[in-house]
Amino acid sequence: MQHEVLISKHIYQEAVDYLASRARVDYHDSDDGLPGDDLRVRLAGKDGLVCQLTDRIDAALLDAAPSVKVVSNVAVGFDNIDVAAATERGIVVTNTPGVLTNTTADLAFALILGAGRRLGEAERYLRAGRFKQWRIDLLTGWDVWQSTLGIFGMGRIGQAVARRGRGFDMRVLYYDPFRQSEELERQLGIEYASKEEVLAQADFLSLHCALTPETRHLLGAAAFEAMKPTAVLVNTSRGPVVDEAALAAALKRGSIAAAGLDVFENEPEVHPELLACENALIVPHIASASVATRTRMCLMAAENMAAGLAGERPPNIVNPDVLA
Ligand code: GLV
Repeated sequence: MQHEVLISKHIYQEAVDYLASRARVDYHDSDDGLPGDDLRVRLAGKDGLVCQLTDRIDAALLDAAPSVKVVSNVAVGFDNIDVAAATERGIVVTNTPGVLTNTTADLAFALILGAGRRLGEAERYLRAGRFKQWRIDLLTGWDVWQSTLGIFGMGRIGQAVARRGRGFDMRVLYYDPFRQSEELERQLGIEYASKEEVLAQADFLSLHCALTPETRHLLGAAAFEAMKPTAVLVNTSRGPVVDEAALAAALKRGSIAAAGLDVFENEPEVHPELLACENALIVPHIASASVATRTRMCLMAAENMAAGLAGERPPNIVNPDVLA
C-alpha cells in the first residue's frame, strides 16, 4: 500500500512532484499554513508530514496522529519540533542543512554591511525627499573592513560568515560551547574566545547558534551593556536568542549602535519599539531566500521524506537514535 504524506503549506512544485511519484500526497497548497486543529485533523492517518518552521509539532499533535513515521522540516532549524517527543514515539525527524549555508551567510553579511553603513536609514532618507545636498557627516556609519567580527556559534553558517569576514580583512573571534579544531581555526583564520571577550571586542556580532533552552535570550540587557557603543548586532539565527525588548531599549539608549535582524521573537510580529528604531535594519526571515536555495531545501525535504518512508536512513536525520 502506498504511503500518504501531508504537505502542510506551499512548497516548490518540483518537491511536490518528487513526492507525488512516490507516495499519495495531501497538499495544503497555501501560504497560510494549517492552524493547530486543522493540522491535527488533516494529519490523522498520514504516514509522513512535510512541515515548515511556522508549524508547531508537539507531543499532542504526534499523539493525535500515531500513524506518522517521518516528520520532514523544510528548514535547517528544527526548534519548532519537539524532537524528544518524536524520538519517544519512534518518529524520524529530518531537516535541510548544508544547502542553505552560503545563501544564509550572504544575508548575514548583507546585514553586517547594511546595518553598519545604515542602508535602511539612507534609503528611507532619500525616498522621503530629504537628500538636498551632500554633507560631510551625512549618514556616517561604522567600517566593516578591518574591524572585529564576533561570531556566536561556529557551525556551518558561522564558518561561512567567518570566511566572508576574512575577505573583508576582519579579525574573527568566536564563541561556541564546542571549540573547533586548531586546524580549522588556522584554516579559517579565526580565534576562540570566551563569550565575555567576544561581547567586549566585537565591532560586529553575528549570531549563528540553534535556539535551545541554553541560547534563549543569550543576548539580553547585560550583554548589550557589555558591548561597545559602536557595535552592531546581526541575527539570522532564531529570534528568541535575542531579548527583543532589551535590544530595542539598547538601540534607543545607544548601548550599541545598530542591529541587522532577519528573525524575531514572535514572528511575524516585530516588537513595536524595534520597528520605531531607525538604527535597526529589519527584514522578514529571508536569509535562505534565493530561488535556487529554497527550491533545493524543498527537494531535500522531499528526499528525506521518501527515504524515511522507504525504511532507509534519511540523509538528514536529526534524531538518529530513533533508528537504534
Ligand atoms: C530557516 O530559518 C531555517 O532554519 O532553515
